[in-house]
Amino acid sequence: MIEHVPVLINEIVSFLKDRPGLKRVLDCTLGLGGYAGAILEAIPGSLVWGLDQDGEALREASARLARWGERFQPFKGNFADAPRILGDYGPFDALLFDLGVSNLQISEGRRGFSFQTDGPLDMRMNADSPFSAKDLVNSGSERELADIFWKFGEERFSRQIARGIVRRRQEGDGISTTGELVALIREVLPAPVQRKMGGHPARRVFQALRIAVNEELPALERGLEGAPGLTAPGGLIAVVSYHSLEDRIVKYFFRRLKDEGRGTILTRRPVIPSEEELEANYKSRSAKLRVFEVKRSGKEAGDDGKGE
Ligand SMILES: C[S@@+](CC[C@H](N)C(=O)[O-])C[C@H]1O[C@@H](n2cnc3c(N)ncnc32)[C@H](O)[C@@H]1O
Repeated sequence: MIEHVPVLINEIVSFLKDRPGLKRVLDCTLGLGGYAGAILEAIPGSLVWGLDQDGEALREASARLARWGERFQPFKGNFADAPRILGDYGPFDALLFDLGVSNLQISEGRRGFSFQTDGPLDMRMNADSPFSAKDLVNSGSERELADIFWKFGEERFSRQIARGIVRRRQEGDGISTTGELVALIREVLPAPVQRKMGGHPARRVFQALRIAVNEELPALERGLEGAPGLTAPGGLIAVVSYHSLEDRIVKYFFRRLKDEGRGTILTRRPVIPSEEELEANYKSRSAKLRVFEVKRSGKEAGDDGKGE
């Protein structure tokens, strides 16, 4: 059975347990249900609605969480559309976002996310989406591809790799598999650079393509915009991000809400994994958790109701 070790789960659960009466939780990135299961276990009487755009993840998580019966409800969709999909079930006492990919997606070569296992160059989290990494790599202009590799992957050789891809296309052979793309990157990157690189030489390009194909940053912006409207007064919005561009979006969004008087930032600095977690799960190394508390209603906030 594929495992996904939930990141910063103890920290998330302790934020939730600190809220007396917390009951209704919307997990916007259900994945394999690690967060959902931990919450159902730790908070008696809690109810979890789980959203994911990946049908396979949803099926797997639903099977794993079946023992919780009616306390868990799965929904398929993009969190950018959460107000439309789940508006009728709100408001929620907490909304959770654990961004990026799950192990289910990474570990199956056929999903095309992995640079370690050969498979079709796909990378769609939502299998119904019409646009895959293969489409992007075989139709994007050299400039567009270089920009994606640089912006989303901070790949120093973005231009050379984009040029290599376009040359391959001109030779008549597109790129259809993850293995072909990895081989091309290895051909393009100078050998001494590859030797000095920490990590796999294709890691940055794969990350960049995944972010672009799934339109992850615009989805995050829309998901956050819709979040306060789904959250009950005094409720929490918690986001775990893994990329500096994501974290910046979350940080400025929470700051804006605070400046508009719509609540309080509970994490002055982002919470990061403990030494123990890093040791146990290397994949958690880039994780950052930020939490926002939506403004309480007048009475709860200690307002005597006599103000303006
Ligand atoms: C890091 S995993 C979540 C893991 C989960 N917290 C657990 O403990 O098992 C991220 C999940 O979010 C989903 N996802 C990413 N972006 C999404 C979006 N815009 N809308 C819905 N689901 C999304 C992915 O398909 C993936 O299953």
